[in-house]
Formats: sequence, structure tokens, C-alpha cells
Amino acid sequence: MREYFTNSERETEELAARLAGEFKKGGVLAFKGGMGMGKTAFIRGLVKGLGNTAFVSSPTFAIVNDYGGEPHTFHFDMYRVSSWEDLYSTGFFDYLAEGNLLLIEWSENIEEALPEDTIFIEIEKGEGDTQRIIRISDKEEGNIV
Ligand SMILES: Nc1ncnc2c1ncn2[C@@H]1O[C@H](COP(=O)(O)OP(=O)(O)O)[C@@H](O)[C@H]1O
Ligand SMILES: [Mg+2]
Repeated sequence: MREYFTNSERETEELAARLAGEFKKGGVLAFKGGMGMGKTAFIRGLVKGLGNTAFVSSPTFAIVNDYGGEPHTFHFDMYRVSSWEDLYSTGFFDYLAEGNLLLIEWSENIEEALPEDTIFIEIEKGEGDTQRIIRISDKEEGNIV
């Protein structure tokens, strides 16, 4: 488990951009943390750090945004997904192909469907209004990733 602290939205974006190189082969990144924690900010930085110029915003109604790029990047918001049927209709399992990068907000809602090698990015509030604690781990809690 790795832990980072940021003190502004910009710092969160910059941290994510710095880490982006680790994800250029694709994979599944499952974000956890409530509303306004900075999941979308982190994803914005990550996408930018991959050299992808797509406009990043929460796909709340669309459920998935396709940003193209290399790796082919998809941004999900699972806030309204509450059953396997819902999940199937998002196309999640079709996007789950080798080489794609899946960035998933509200992954809490699809925890049982996440692949074994999912990386978790958990954001929680630190001190004051603007500090965030960002923890990166894999499925086996405590493993260094
Ligand atoms: N350290 C921080 N990192 C990220 N966002 C922060 C931070 N401090 C304050 N904020 C604010 O929190 C909000 C995060 O929004 P957003 O990224 O959309 O969150 P989420 O996708 O988790 O709902 C923004 O309004 C941003 O300005
Ligand atoms: Mg969001």
C-alpha cells in the first residue's frame, strides 16, 4: 500500500499525472471515496499524464466516457449501478479487454465484478477542507504495488 497526501485539486491532478506511466499498459483502476473526494480530479491528471488530450468529466448520466488514446481509456461512474443486470448493460465486460485502461468511480458498487489484478485508489479527507489522503493498493490488502 502506498499513501500520498495532496493539498489542492491541482496537486491531486499533478500526482496522478506523475503516476500515469505505471498504467500505460492498461488495467483496471477502482476508485473509492465519497462525493467530492477528488476521484475525477485524479482521473483528469492521469489521462493527461498519459498524453491523452480528451476532456475529462464525471460520466454520471452516460455511465461511461470513451477517451480513446493509448492505452484505450474508458472512464466509468458506477454511482447508479446496483445490479449485475445494470453492470452488463454498461458494457463493462466488453471493455474489460487486455490493453484497455478502465478508470472506475464508485467501484464500491461493482466490487464483486472487479478482476483479480485490480488496483484500488482510495481517497479520503485529511486535515481541513483541502487535504486528501490517497492510498493505492492491490486486492490483497497491504501488498506493495
Ligand atoms: N486535495 C484535493 N484534491 C482534489 N480535489 C480537491 C482537493 N481539495 C479540494 N478539492 C475539491 O474537491 C472537489 C473534487 O471534485 P471531484 O474530483 O469531482 O470529486 P469526485 O469525483 O470524487 O466526486 C473539487 O471541487 C476540488 O476543488
Ligand atoms: Mg467524480
